[in-house]
Amino acid sequence: MKTIVSTLHGSKEEKYREAISQFQSLIAGENDEGIILGMIASLLKMQFETFSWVGFYVLKGNELVVGPFQGKPPCIRIEVGKGVCGTVAQEKKTLIVSDVDAFPEHIRCDADSRSEIVVPLFQNNTLYGVLDIDSFRLNNFDETDKVYLEEICRNITTLL
Ligand code: SME
Repeated sequence: MKTIVSTLHGSKEEKYREAISQFQSLIAGENDEGIILGMIASLLKMQFETFSWVGFYVLKGNELVVGPFQGKPPCIRIEVGKGVCGTVAQEKKTLIVSDVDAFPEHIRCDADSRSEIVVPLFQNNTLYGVLDIDSFRLNNFDETDKVYLEEICRNITTLL
């Protein structure tokens, strides 16, 4: 197996491209959901030192249930419509929260989180869950993160 290294000094674009390339080589031939989601969470957390938490919530009935993640133990269940994750599950659109303290619906799972991005994940055009990333830094996420993370979620969709 190739040694996996992070490109901590690269640009945001380089880090995402490296994570995507490592993901494709690591999961070749795998179709297990836990391996696929867990690998993405690991690769993204490893590439970005500003990410405090990376993980998935999977839709089960009317709630999101935590799936593979990297970071501190999180809230396990989030009702659709609640918090940043539940809002994204309801609206099915990526949401960037520049300052979690200014987003009244935000559910605080980690005292270190300052900003957050949540991207919906689909399977056969139906919501499967969300990818949630928290950052230690205020205003950490922008359009570049949205573009790459949506690409990652589209890649995952073809594998689930
Ligand atoms: N902050 C999220 C909850 C999940 S944790 O950040 C891991 C929210 O408001 O939905």
